[in-house]
Amino acid sequence: MAQPVIIGSERSEAGLPTGIEVLRRGGSALDAVEAAMRCCEDNPADHYVGTGGLPNARGEVELDASVMIGSSRRFGAVGAMRGYPNPISVARAVLERLPQHCLLVGEGAELFAEENGFTKGELLTDEARRIWREQLQAAAATEGEVAGRSVEGENTSAVPGDRRYREAALDLVRRLAPHEGPWGTINIMALDASGELCVGVSTSGYPFKYPGRVGDSAVPGAGNWCDLRAGGAACTGRGELSMRGGTARSVVDLLALGTDPAEACRLGLREAAGLPDEFRAELRALALTPDGRHGGASGQPGSVYAVMTLDSTAPEFHPRVVL
Ligand code: GLY
Repeated sequence: MAQPVIIGSERSEAGLPTGIEVLRRGGSALDAVEAAMRCCEDNPADHYVGTGGLPNARGEVELDASVMIGSSRRFGAVGAMRGYPNPISVARAVLERLPQHCLLVGEGAELFAEENGFTKGELLTDEARRIWREQLQAAAATEGEVAGRSVEGENTSAVPGDRRYREAALDLVRRLAPHEGPWGTINIMALDASGELCVGVSTSGYPFKYPGRVGDSAVPGAGNWCDLRAGGAACTGRGELSMRGGTARSVVDLLALGTDPAEACRLGLREAAGLPDEFRAELRALALTPDGRHGGASGQPGSVYAVMTLDSTAPEFHPRVVL
């Protein structure tokens, strides 16, 4: 049996020490992933997950998250959920308490969170609001109107759903280009002492996205896939590409053929990154096998992922192979 291990994408190091403690105590891969991810979601300095995440084009933080278990391929996810700081835990609740479904979005996800006793919180921090406002100014967005509100939040005469609304919103999303540098969706995957594998993904999504946009983090096969027969994989970066490429599933299919994890990530990424895309094309992938091997790939040099084993005193960083 392989030794327990937990790995994660850039900035998961805020949570991996908590996750490895769960594994040291004999906890499950699911418990380790959830505990580690909650630390990341609760880190207000991180502008891509949970509290402090960058908002959509209307200035509202909408969160996506998912968990998948390798032995059963049970999957739970939430998308475009507002007001709840730990979407990874709500995704887990969908998996465990709503087995007839896999994915809840928007108001339904919020209703489910409320009914299941999750605590609401303010997700838009002063710092995230400042970054959003700077983007609005940079985009000269004073003309932009989305969903009947000016971009500054003042009511206007635009009727939600009409052509004017859609054109204004799309124009705003085009002008609010996400900034350069790694996107901060967080992938965390763990292998526990019983040999179970779990993959978790959490994000505030495409910065300044169209309201209601759900990305790959909540979509099985795109941003998250876990199959104990072969391994787990997850993506960060431009989710529209991994949704179109079915990238996490493709990586696991390559693992099933015996491909090395880093090479499986590289090949899966190459296929998705080759799709025509007029917006940002950055995408990264990460994989872990049931025997504890791991690897990652990125479209850009210098990208790393973090690893902790039972012997680790701190996260170790490993380079990703470059596309
Ligand atoms: N990969 C995260 C997103 O596109 O939302």
